[in-house]
Amino acid sequence: MKIVIVGASGTVGSAVSELLARDHEVIRVGHRQGDATVDMTDGASIAALFAGIGRFDALVVASGNVAFNALTELTDEQWQTGLESKLMGQIRLTRAAIPHLNDRGSITLIGGILSEEPINWGVSASTINGAIEHFVRAAACELPRGLRINVISPTVLEESMDKYADFFPGFVPVPAARVAQAYKKSVLGVQSGQVFRVNG
Ligand SMILES: NC(=O)c1ccc[n+]([C@@H]2O[C@H](COP(=O)([O-])OP(=O)(O)OC[C@H]3O[C@@H](n4cnc5c(N)ncnc54)[C@H](OP(=O)(O)O)[C@@H]3O)[C@@H](O)[C@H]2O)c1
Repeated sequence: MKIVIVGASGTVGSAVSELLARDHEVIRVGHRQGDATVDMTDGASIAALFAGIGRFDALVVASGNVAFNALTELTDEQWQTGLESKLMGQIRLTRAAIPHLNDRGSITLIGGILSEEPINWGVSASTINGAIEHFVRAAACELPRGLRINVISPTVLEESMDKYADFFPGFVPVPAARVAQAYKKSVLGVQSGQVFRVNG
């Protein structure tokens, strides 16, 4: 299988890349590094990425930024960061990938536990992760040619606890390798329109 992984150099993406590259051809895509680069906030950049890659079997996304701040402090610009990057970035990647995907191919997006369990300063992330789940549920119904779409919703990763531990009191982290298995289930399995939650 030929699999395009956007965010392949990241904490989530590097574990997914390592797992899927054992048995598949993996194209590692980053913002500044990788086999190819893309800016998921820019439609022209995404179009150029897919034009350069040719046809493939699976799009995997493990990238997308959101701003963390108090509800009363979040600015329009900070809200816009998450909307443009994590939400619209993934929607743009999905729409642009459809004509390049082989029949019965798949798209796997990234959300996160904050859609279900809010934390302090997480209102933008909760909103955006929830919207991604709703997008996936609806898009699965309309995808042509047997294409599938799912979203992975992990809790905080063990590998990120040095940065995020204070934001996630009482949350049990999971290793990135477990999140990678959920991506594998999405890419190699048969389900569509699903939220694969990875909780500690
Ligand atoms: N880490 C966690 O605990 C955790 C838990 C749940 C959900 N998530 C979600 O998982 C996703 C990835 O998180 P992470 O911790 O793995 O992030 P990360 O380590 O910071 O990696 C981010 C990846 O995204 C790429 N990237 C950055 N800006 C981009 C852009 N404009 N266009 C395309 N690619 C871009 C980076 O590429 P370069 O290296 O080339 O810059 C890098 O490969 C995020 O949406 C996050 O909310 C993370």
